Amino acid sequence: MKFILQLPLYLGLVTQAFAQSYWYETINHQGVAPYNPQGSAYQVFRNVKSFGAKGDGVTDDTAAINAAITSGSRCVAGPPPGGCQSSTTSPAVVYFPAGTYLISAPIVPYYMTQMIGNPNAMPILKASAGFSGFALVDADPYQSANPDYGTTNVFYRQIRNFVFDTTSIPVATAINGIHWPTAQATSVQNCVFRMSQASGTKHVGMFIENGSGGFLTDLVFYGGQYGLNIGSQQFTTRNLTFSNSGTAIYQIWNWGWTYMGVSINNCGTGLDMTNGGTSAQAVGSVTFIDSTITNTPVGIRTARTSSSVPRTGGSLSLENVVLTNVPTAIQGPSAMALAGTTGTMTIGAWVEGNVYGPTGPVNSQGGVSAFPRPSSLLSGSNFYTRSKPQYQALAVSQFSSVRSAGAKGDGVTDDSAAIQSIINSATAAGNIVYFDAGIYKVTTTIQIPAGRKSPVPVVQVGNAGDTGVVEWSDMIVSTQGATSGATLIQWNLASPSTSPSGMWDVHTRIGGFTGSSLQVAQCAVGAAQPNTNCIAAFQSMRITPTGSGVYLENVWLWSADHDIDDAADTQISVYSGRGLSVESTTGNIWLIGTAVEHHTLYQYQFANTQNIYMGFIQTETPYYQPTPGAASPFPAIVARNDPDFGVFCAGKNASCNDAWGLRVLSSKNILVYGAGLYSFFNNYSTTCSSHTSTTYNEYCQLQIFGIDEGGSSQTYSGSSVYVYGLNTVGAVSMVDLNGNSVVNQADNTNSFAESVIMFTSH
Ligand SMILES: *[C@@H]1O[C@H](CO)[C@@H](O)[C@H](O)[C@H]1NC(C)=O
Ligand SMILES: *[C@@H]1O[C@H](CO)[C@@H](O)[C@H](O)[C@H]1NC(C)=O
Ligand SMILES: *[C@@H]1O[C@H](CO)[C@@H](O)[C@H](O)[C@H]1NC(C)=O
Ligand SMILES: *[C@@H]1O[C@H](CO)[C@@H](O)[C@H](O)[C@H]1NC(C)=O
Repeated sequence: MKFILQLPLYLGLVTQAFAQSYWYETINHQGVAPYNPQGSAYQVFRNVKSFGAKGDGVTDDTAAINAAITSGSRCVAGPPPGGCQSSTTSPAVVYFPAGTYLISAPIVPYYMTQMIGNPNAMPILKASAGFSGFALVDADPYQSANPDYGTTNVFYRQIRNFVFDTTSIPVATAINGIHWPTAQATSVQNCVFRMSQASGTKHVGMFIENGSGGFLTDLVFYGGQYGLNIGSQQFTTRNLTFSNSGTAIYQIWNWGWTYMGVSINNCGTGLDMTNGGTSAQAVGSVTFIDSTITNTPVGIRTARTSSSVPRTGGSLSLENVVLTNVPTAIQGPSAMALAGTTGTMTIGAWVEGNVYGPTGPVNSQGGVSAFPRPSSLLSGSNFYTRSKPQYQALAVSQFSSVRSAGAKGDGVTDDSAAIQSIINSATAAGNIVYFDAGIYKVTTTIQIPAGRKSPVPVVQVGNAGDTGVVEWSDMIVSTQGATSGATLIQWNLASPSTSPSGMWDVHTRIGGFTGSSLQVAQCAVGAAQPNTNCIAAFQSMRITPTGSGVYLENVWLWSADHDIDDAADTQISVYSGRGLSVESTTGNIWLIGTAVEHHTLYQYQFANTQNIYMGFIQTETPYYQPTPGAASPFPAIVARNDPDFGVFCAGKNASCNDAWGLRVLSSKNILVYGAGLYSFFNNYSTTCSSHTSTTYNEYCQLQIFGIDEGGSSQTYSGSSVYVYGLNTVGAVSMVDLNGNSVVNQADNTNSFAESVIMFTSH
């Protein structure tokens, strides 16, 4: 078994305070990329000043910064010698000390690049007056006649701690701070966008037109035509502040989107979701909560009416939104949909779209009862949130490096003992454990914190009965070969709801990369299935009955559907039994911006638990199903509340035999604020989810979201489930409850997915 890290890891607790230096700048950088063609000569960490950048606000640093990015053997899209679509073997951290970096052309971060600035004195990327190009940072440039990075396969990249300044660019010149078409396991955190605030400004903070994201948090926008000009299949976006923008957020398109903690001030319009107009709405659904809009004439613009097209296009749910001096709260295509105020008002909850409770649909537009919010999930009246800690107040002496402690990270050496030893001693000393980039092979369970040995988990957080707090960031946990018994992350630790443990940018990746022995050569789609060499994991992540108080943000649990290191991104058949299961008796779990994909039995399962917040959650069913069906190759284990497809699907169409996207059993207060449960394939064919001018196929699987059903020898106690913004693809039934399909896709068609804006289980 292996334990992989290609980004820095921190683990521990924070306290002290001090000035502008940053431990990450000064720590000894020993990162390696073992499978890079350059071997040990390959440099993972690159300080732009070591490549000649001055950061003095005068010198043009464009070439020096791009040199820091392009150095070494990297994955480069576009014309020869480019042509690379994706790769896990050439990660880079491009670090910017404090300074003002003048640039005259786009910075282009290659595949798997992290751009990190000093959070104590955020570096400024400042466009020169004569700047030429599409964006200050163009993460996926358009390559005429040559492929870009495919937007839905752009994984594992970050930008954090920067100021983007376009104020020197003429107001009428169109420019984007960041162009960010992207997919899972990507994030932009703690950035400021300074744009022209003059009327007619064409500046835009971030532009996303495509992809399958993704996570944005802690962003501040000043001015611009748009702060965000964005479209993607789905996204989770949190803690966004806009001041003096023409339109704070222009939503180009989506299937589903969750906004939390948005603050809009002195803008023309808050959120504009009218693209396409009433007859061809491009925006599928939006869930917008815990936010404020102030001194803005129109809060939200929508193109939806009771007869607009598509049927559920422009679905919208609002909860806990405070308006101050917003005369029009929601403007419809011809009439005001919700009046605002020149004073202050709070929108408790308001929806437009199809509502089920649980029968329906009712095509609604208006106020509704807000979901009950368990107090243990709240901070004030909002849901608790916490951004990824960067430990910027700590000294470098408070970090313990696993490389300095003897771990090699070379993908070959067994680093188990070295890692366990440093985790134990650092935890005892109150230090944070730091992993440089590398591939750390482990053959025994790594315990956080140390404790009893167990043969099954790869990483185990606490033993049953333990209490305390763990913080874990920026790591990928993987397996190698046919480790069918592996649970990649097992969480036993109980933490208080007021200071929960957290996982930020921690992912599982099962197969599909160099070193996994689960690539095209071993796990080809055409071979006889299931291929026993590719039965790779029992489960991605399990929160056991004793585990509680866990905050997950931007976490992607991925059983690979394709080989990232194959030049053609060829599909593979890898079998992983279960995605994320939560059996916590206490609960208090936050899942903010999480995705679980391609596990055989289910993606998310909640059993005998309570008090769960999630939004946005995204799933995909394995592409091979139902050949073989979901009952193979993992036999149902009743004690683990597994679905029993052998019983459930007896006598039904073969397309019953597909994994559940979301399954809830005997659980209370399960709150879903945005979900996308997708099934695109049937035996690797997309015919079952294809739409043409004459066909609208949605039959890849019979059911995808089940409440209190699907087992055998199991009885259920009646769950309480509350959902805003449910979107599905390829499922005949959108919700099954107690053995009945209660939401039919055909009643809820949208642009590509199907959408229900509000569902309550009772
Ligand atoms: C999104 O990307 C896909 C291919 O990746 C392309 O076919 C489509 O036209 C793009 N859509 C937009 C709006 O750019
Ligand atoms: C929001 O982001 C700002 C930085 O832009 C940060 O100072 C603040 O603590 C964040 N708030 C929350 C609730 O995460
Ligand atoms: C199973 O469902 C699919 C999709 O609706 C349909 O085309 C097929 O005929 C069904 N098969 C049987 C045996 O009913
Ligand atoms: C699955 O697809 C493969 C490749 O197209 C085909 O050969 C096979 O017959 C299909 N299996 C079933 C059960 O439809």
